[in-house]
Amino acid sequence: MSLLMFLLGLVTGAIALPIDEFNVYNYGASGFGEIDDSQAFVNAWRDACIVRTHYARVIVPEGTFLLNPLMFSGPCNPQSIHFKILGTIIASGSPESWHGRDSSQWIAFKDVTGLNVYGSGLVDGQGMHWWDQSCRYHPKLEGCTKLAPTIFKFISCKESTLSNIYIVNSPQTHVLILNSKGFNVDNVMIQSPEHSPNTDGIHIHSSHSVKITNSIIGTGDDCISIGDYTSNIDIANIECGPGHGISIGSLGKNRKVVMVEHIRISDSKLKGTTNGARIKTWQGGQGNVRHITFENLAFDAVYNPIIIDQNYCDVSGTCKEEKTGVKINDVVYKNLYGTSSSKIAINLNCSKYVPCSRITMENINLVSVQEGNQVTASCTNAKGTEVGVNPGSCFRN
Ligand SMILES: *[C@@H]1O[C@H](CO)[C@@H](O)[C@H](O)[C@H]1NC(C)=O
Repeated sequence: MSLLMFLLGLVTGAIALPIDEFNVYNYGASGFGEIDDSQAFVNAWRDACIVRTHYARVIVPEGTFLLNPLMFSGPCNPQSIHFKILGTIIASGSPESWHGRDSSQWIAFKDVTGLNVYGSGLVDGQGMHWWDQSCRYHPKLEGCTKLAPTIFKFISCKESTLSNIYIVNSPQTHVLILNSKGFNVDNVMIQSPEHSPNTDGIHIHSSHSVKITNSIIGTGDDCISIGDYTSNIDIANIECGPGHGISIGSLGKNRKVVMVEHIRISDSKLKGTTNGARIKTWQGGQGNVRHITFENLAFDAVYNPIIIDQNYCDVSGTCKEEKTGVKINDVVYKNLYGTSSSKIAINLNCSKYVPCSRITMENINLVSVQEGNQVTASCTNAKGTEVGVNPGSCFRN
């Protein structure tokens, strides 16, 4: 619009400037938490996505909004599209609400560039009924479910962010970053009970240039897990626990080809988790895990502070020995300290056929959480060097 037209608009009082804020209340959301507000969200997103401005903002104000499974799709016209959550978004607590729908997701964003999801609000997946029927913990229950919704899925999103938000009680994974490039997660809090099944905090898969910083994550599974095709992942300033730790893997399931490289996990604390710095791969996989750095990590009563498991199997004894495996090399462990709640504080358990190589351990001090108990280091089919490592002598052979 030309300046003249704009001034003319001011004079005549008929300014045709496009509106760039889309408040779900203006689309009929109730905000009571009992009526399904999905349609209001769908319509607010539709208008935000097609508006001809550089910038658009969907506003979820104070209030409680009940949403059924939803997909917010792009590509959108605005270069930057904000999704500001000030209130509370809740899922239906009943798995029946997913009947006939994709039960892997609740709120998904797809094909959006410049997406920013943030706000001081709360997103509650109400996962309890899903946990109660999960095959993981109730394998004998008739009709038990293996797949349950992820709270936030970001699929093929570029140059996007998720920040300043509180995410709780996911039926399964809380946040999934899939097929995305340039994705930053900052200052999020993710919480689910310690015994909730498969409730990973953040899972990254087939994605590149992802940063996760300044966040607090405590769940029933991995705080953060990194999947088969990932590179340039930077994870820093995380407080993890309870949960299974920060994990690269499990990789290479069903003989998949893996390419995981340039991963850095640093300046983080793990408290009461089953694992600390973990890499796990299935036998039979192919490809590489390389250029991995674990640096400046503090462990407090962690069961496996440092672990590589190249023979990962989810149900022990059901995986047969295979002659291929994912190659692991150039892994650095530096400035790691704290307490181990198991005897083997350092356990590099690599494959006979595809040994781990060029592992560097430097400045590590791990002691038993029980005073007076000794901890040990075990390295199998792993080659590398160590300086200032306690417990030491892992690479003896
Ligand atoms: C290494 O992995 C094998 C196969 O899973 C297992 O039997 C063995 O106990 C592991 N070793 C250690 C030290 O954990």
